[in-house]
Amino acid sequence: MKVDVLLGLQWGDEGKGKVVDVLTPRYDVVARFQGGPNAGHTLEFEGQKYVLRSIPSGIFQGDKVNIIGNGVVLDPSLFKAEAEALEASGHPLKERLHISKKAHLILPTHRILDAAYEAAKGASKVGTTGKGIGPTYTDKVSRNGLRVGDILNNFEAKYAAAKARHEQILKSLNYEYDITELEKQWMEGIEYLRQFNLVDSEHEINNLLKEGKSVLCEGAQGTMLDVDFGSYPFVTSSNTICAGACTGLGLGPNKIGEVYGIMKAYCTRVGSGPFPTELFDETGKTIRDLGHEYGAVTGRERRCGWIDLVALRYSIMVNGVTQLILMKSDVLDGFDTIKACVAYKVNGEEIDYFPYDINEGVEPVYVELPGWKTDMTKMTSEDEFPEEFNAYISFLEEQLGTPIKIVSVGPDRAQTIERYTEQ
Ligand code: GDP
Ligand code: IMO
Ligand code: MG
Repeated sequence: MKVDVLLGLQWGDEGKGKVVDVLTPRYDVVARFQGGPNAGHTLEFEGQKYVLRSIPSGIFQGDKVNIIGNGVVLDPSLFKAEAEALEASGHPLKERLHISKKAHLILPTHRILDAAYEAAKGASKVGTTGKGIGPTYTDKVSRNGLRVGDILNNFEAKYAAAKARHEQILKSLNYEYDITELEKQWMEGIEYLRQFNLVDSEHEINNLLKEGKSVLCEGAQGTMLDVDFGSYPFVTSSNTICAGACTGLGLGPNKIGEVYGIMKAYCTRVGSGPFPTELFDETGKTIRDLGHEYGAVTGRERRCGWIDLVALRYSIMVNGVTQLILMKSDVLDGFDTIKACVAYKVNGEEIDYFPYDINEGVEPVYVELPGWKTDMTKMTSEDEFPEEFNAYISFLEEQLGTPIKIVSVGPDRAQTIERYTEQ
């Protein structure tokens, strides 16, 4: 019996999809516990590239059980498009994918409300993905939501009531919209959803554990986007941290074993909000170009900057991370020197902890490390690591007080190196 959790430590897009796919052969079950189609998890293998949004990244490895947990918010029309594309590319999933009846439904009007709230915020907008995430979680918490299980019983009336309530709000915001096409596709999505295994996933997952099966929980977004601990209010609307796996799947905290924290060798962010180590110069542009830092789903330009060890220490703390996974170090392969933020200066005072508010007046304090100036993308073992790279990871481990167990040197499944040396 074992439950491990893999989650992002920065502002999302750390490479979670790739590593979940790599680790899946070691588990019987892969489960998403929060977020929804705001996620875009990229996987590459055998010359093919896939972007998953609501479907867990364990779907490509054999006949593992993949679960969409109760903590996830599901848009039936986007789900239908995603699932049909996978099936068309030769990856059947109807038998293998189980969906919690307690997962909340994203309604067409939730998407419209997302846009309306963003428009009302003007310059202070969050820069959401526009997928209706905030309004759906709002309805969940205010006890107005519709759940997947609702489609099995008197659904039309429940939908009509929810829609009418949303229309009232949209009217009060004077927001103009056309729901026709969105609603048509959504209804087709509801019919499609009926063909899947709609389950009580908390029972299922705990029964599987009793049978001795192992579970990998796949986080979406990242700790800096967590609604409690992220850079509020520029966050998503769910708990992206490890505790979210307990509430989002119905798991007791004592079931959690390893917590894999995943981070890039630098840092990126999409949308608005503070980003202390952001680079506005040529270096930022170089990282964006070399790292192809554009949104997996939206194509939006990702903001780029140096790795922020202050924020990472905080993320490791609130998640109880037991091992780290370092992604995209290959993007820095050609750099002469690499910077890492080890402290912040706030009002002239140097601090090494993550403060209440990073929205203003936070200045990063950097140390500079020599680059390794070696193409690492074809390496397959840690024995090949250049000396400067070993020094760089030792520095990170010392700063973060946590071992780095996996190093990713390219987007492909095969470009993944496990470290076995005693740390
Ligand atoms: P996720 O949301 O955390 O799953 O990450 P995304 O898929 O949104 O973004 C990660 C991007 O980096 C994707 O385009 C991946 O294919 C790519 N990627 C993942 N690992 C590596 C790596 O080690 N090196 C490089 N160069 N690209 C990587
Ligand atoms: P993955 O799982 C990066 C960001 C949005 C916005 C904020 C709120 O691929 O790492 P939302 O639509 O959730 O209300 O938007 O959160 N955001 C992400 N950024 N990766 C993601 O997911 C994200 N999901 C949401 O850009 O700033
Ligand atoms: Mg992503």
